[in-house]
Amino acid sequence: MAPFTLDPLAPSWSVQWREDLKLRRDRLMAAIGSGVAIFRSAPPAVMHNDVEYGYRQDSDFYYVTGFDEPEAVAVLAPNHPDHAYVLFVRPKDRLAETWSGRRLGVEGALMELGADAVYGIDELEDHLAAYLETGDRLFYGLGRDRAFDELLLGQWRSLLRRRQKTGKGPIAIEDPSGRLHQLRNRKTEPELALMRRAIAIAAEAHQTAMELTRPGVWEYEIQAEMERIFRRHGGWGPAYPSIVASGDNACILHYVENSRQMRDGDLLLIDAGCSYRYYNSDITRTFPVNGRFSDAQRALYELVLESQVQAIAQVKPGNTYKTMHDTAVQVLTEGLVALGLLAGDPAELIERKIYRNFYMHGTGHWLGLDVHDVGLYHNGEADEPFQPGQVITVEPGLYIAPDAEPMQPPELDGDDEDATDDDWPEQPPIDDRWRGLGIRIEDNVLVTENGCEVLTAAVPKAIADLEH
Ligand code: GLY
Ligand code: MN
Ligand code: MN
Repeated sequence: MAPFTLDPLAPSWSVQWREDLKLRRDRLMAAIGSGVAIFRSAPPAVMHNDVEYGYRQDSDFYYVTGFDEPEAVAVLAPNHPDHAYVLFVRPKDRLAETWSGRRLGVEGALMELGADAVYGIDELEDHLAAYLETGDRLFYGLGRDRAFDELLLGQWRSLLRRRQKTGKGPIAIEDPSGRLHQLRNRKTEPELALMRRAIAIAAEAHQTAMELTRPGVWEYEIQAEMERIFRRHGGWGPAYPSIVASGDNACILHYVENSRQMRDGDLLLIDAGCSYRYYNSDITRTFPVNGRFSDAQRALYELVLESQVQAIAQVKPGNTYKTMHDTAVQVLTEGLVALGLLAGDPAELIERKIYRNFYMHGTGHWLGLDVHDVGLYHNGEADEPFQPGQVITVEPGLYIAPDAEPMQPPELDGDDEDATDDDWPEQPPIDDRWRGLGIRIEDNVLVTENGCEVLTAAVPKAIADLEH
């Protein structure tokens, strides 16, 4: 037998992908037990007037169905004797397809999507109740689509009215996210194969960006080259608005104008990832535009890199997002004290959140079908331990805005307007050499049985590899 390969470009892929979709539905059905679950496709997003953005399916719906058309409903009814998985889709329509693209249609969906029954979406009201009544609990995400909520609640009300005689039908509604997102949070091998591809494409784009960057180049030129690479490899495009931020633009966390000409002596921060068949990468690198770090840039970069390496080392089963974040904060805070950007006992600077003057965001997030993917970080009071199959970003940074001020004590409550916090560790003035520097390093990390794998390792981040 040929070795089992998982290559999204191989002919065997579509079979493997369909098997994986079935596996996910089976797991979800086990998770909903004797309930019935309803998933709705995403509404089209309007760009302006009657022009729409390219359609992007709802991530939950896509996870369950692999189907990327609008106006669709999926039903999981594990108790139904014949139809555990049912789809309602847009029927074929020659005229409509001439205007707005091909449709799989009812027969096509039956052949390709693994459903036990498929109906036209116009038949929804006639058939839905027969599936709803097979469950003792309805899993549905209320509050996203008013019209559909009304239809479903109407059908549920009439089932409840008849319940006295039939003894059938759901008696409660539960949002499916709790159970579904636990599944989505731990990736299957085929999902990881798509993520690896989204990462490989973005890695090539980052490497090309590094080669093309020099004084005089405009930020948007780098953006254009990167997004060209995303598309040329079959990617949908950027996973989120690409950030190409030179000089002090790097201190704006969501800088997306990408409109400045780069200068000798700047750093360039690029935060750009690719969306490939619905799966995403999310990579940040920061490097000198002229190929050489200044002393101040180097000192700050070394510190961010050290914090990132140490945070990554915390990504292993049993540890938590908090372990990882706390490690990054600890390293950054101690380093900022050593560089004279903060003053005081690191424990106190952390306790009082004074480090947030220069590091104001979290250290990472789940990554998958959504860039900020689903899954819990905390469960009640407890932190969720890392589990194999999760993918998390690790992305510490430091940002010294041009107009940064040493952090002052918060104003105290009470009647005395001049009340101050006498124990506040006074912060030093910010030396000009740090001003305007923004640095972030972001990798995508897979939690494995014994530790982790840095999926984005192909993109250089060591100083020696960034200088030329
Ligand atoms: N690029 C979005 C993020 O890093 O979270
Ligand atoms: Mn990120
Ligand atoms: Mn990012």
